[in-house]
Amino acid sequence: MAGVVNIRVAQRADVPELYRLEQLCFETERFSRRQISYLVSRSNGEFLVLTENGNIAGFMVLLVRRNSAGVRIYSLAVSPDYRGKQYAKQLISKAGQVAASLGKSFLHLEVSHANFSAIQLYRKLEFQITGKRERYYKDGSDAWLMRLGVNPSKPS
Ligand SMILES: CC(C)(COP(=O)(O)OP(=O)(O)OC[C@H]1O[C@@H](n2cnc3c(N)ncnc32)[C@H](O)[C@@H]1OP(=O)(O)O)[C@@H](O)C(=O)NCCC(=O)NCCS
Repeated sequence: MAGVVNIRVAQRADVPELYRLEQLCFETERFSRRQISYLVSRSNGEFLVLTENGNIAGFMVLLVRRNSAGVRIYSLAVSPDYRGKQYAKQLISKAGQVAASLGKSFLHLEVSHANFSAIQLYRKLEFQITGKRERYYKDGSDAWLMRLGVNPSKPS
């Protein structure tokens, strides 16, 4: 049965669950509990959680810089139990709305060459590859830089 899905801003009380999800979803390059706490409380970004029936199913961290025309998707993850339900797609759609509301013109991110699921996701949503960073990750893998235009008058 479909659950009640909601996207909201993360609260300090979410940090333990977000840390648990971080461990589940990423094998390397994980945020520490302290980094998650910092990202939840910082003001120049948005830490969003997607809930299903009140339980956190996924999260997304956006970084916003005043002198940048884009909003960076700094992290995105959906718990293994909730994958394949278009939740990452919904979080990225929300990122587009946030970017549009701030008058920004694109979303951008880095993704490992080795991260097949995420690359498929971004390609499906029509992100374009704009560059490559060699040996960007600690495991030696390269990163693709990807970008999706946002029309301020028509948030995605
Ligand atoms: C990548 C990730 C966020 C996808 O989350 P998700 O909620 O399962 O993705 P969605 O259900 O929204 O998928 C939307 C589309 O993305 C593509 N996609 C997502 N996961 C896929 C997979 N494992 N294989 C192939 N395509 C995939 C599909 O085209 C899918 O559309 P479809 O279901 O109609 O075919 C999730 O697998 C995850 O958290 N991975 C670990 C953390 C991570 O790698 N984060 C990204 C860092 S850059």
